[in-house]
Amino acid sequence: GKVGVLFGGRSAERDVSIMSGTGVLAALISRGVDAHAFDPAERNIAELAAEKFDRVFIALHGRFGEDGSLQGALEQLGIPYTGSGVMACAIGMDKIYTKMIWLMKGLPTPKYASLDGATDLAQVVAELGLPLIVKPPHEGSTIGITKVVAAEALQAAYDVAAGFDDIVLAEEFVTGREFTVTVLGRGKTARALPVVEIVAPQGNYDYQNKYFTDDVQYICPAKLDDATAAEMARLALEAYRALDCEGWGRVDVLLRAVDNKPFLIEVNTSPGMTTHSLVPMSARAVGMSYEDLCVEILKTARL
Ligand code: DAL
Ligand code: MG
Repeated sequence: GKVGVLFGGRSAERDVSIMSGTGVLAALISRGVDAHAFDPAERNIAELAAEKFDRVFIALHGRFGEDGSLQGALEQLGIPYTGSGVMACAIGMDKIYTKMIWLMKGLPTPKYASLDGATDLAQVVAELGLPLIVKPPHEGSTIGITKVVAAEALQAAYDVAAGFDDIVLAEEFVTGREFTVTVLGRGKTARALPVVEIVAPQGNYDYQNKYFTDDVQYICPAKLDDATAAEMARLALEAYRALDCEGWGRVDVLLRAVDNKPFLIEVNTSPGMTTHSLVPMSARAVGMSYEDLCVEILKTARL
């Protein structure tokens, strides 16, 4: 049947989604799938039903694509879709709610505070220490994120993040190595692919370095002792299951330098599929090509 590849969209990650979706579309077509591009920013998704699409591959990132709202609309239209359902997407899109769930389950994530216009910023610095990281909870691809090294800089960092979200996340800074773990499947049968280590210049894995430079080094499988790699995979699976994610996802993890303790940072329920993206890298490490991966993910489409 007819498959819609949803990409573009209205979030700040629109350009990233176009890179992801273009790749997915070409991969599916190369495997003989009757796949068609569909941009929900340009067309009403009700047209998917009118035009008898059988199912859709979601290659959207950020708000209105990765946050559960689109997933809810597809449920209403009765069109099976790839990836997590409404609740997992909604929670996964919010870095604060994600942390609350993980903490309730006893999973390690950096200490944090939720900030609004009335928050005493000096108090936040006292609680979390410096440096700290300030993020808009509903963005991706490092958009709106600032590393704050001096207390005087917190207000400006807050203002940047507050341009994206009403509530802003401040997180303790974890000094260490940066990793990500791809998870495929659902519940008990979910499995982790080999861990990827990200080595960015000056630890600066920002929007530019993520997609447009070749300055970042990716190591997959990551050079970790077996016990640490296994622990990271276990935690990523727990983190993914805690939100009831399904289909596919990517869990970002930091490994603290002083004690080699892993900390969960966030889950991406609709991870990047660009030429620079991490999920395709980890798939390749188990012999799964980009095309194989797209077909695998498409197979998991359901309501
Ligand atoms: N938010 C980007 C697309 C990612 O996590 O890959
Ligand atoms: Mg993200």
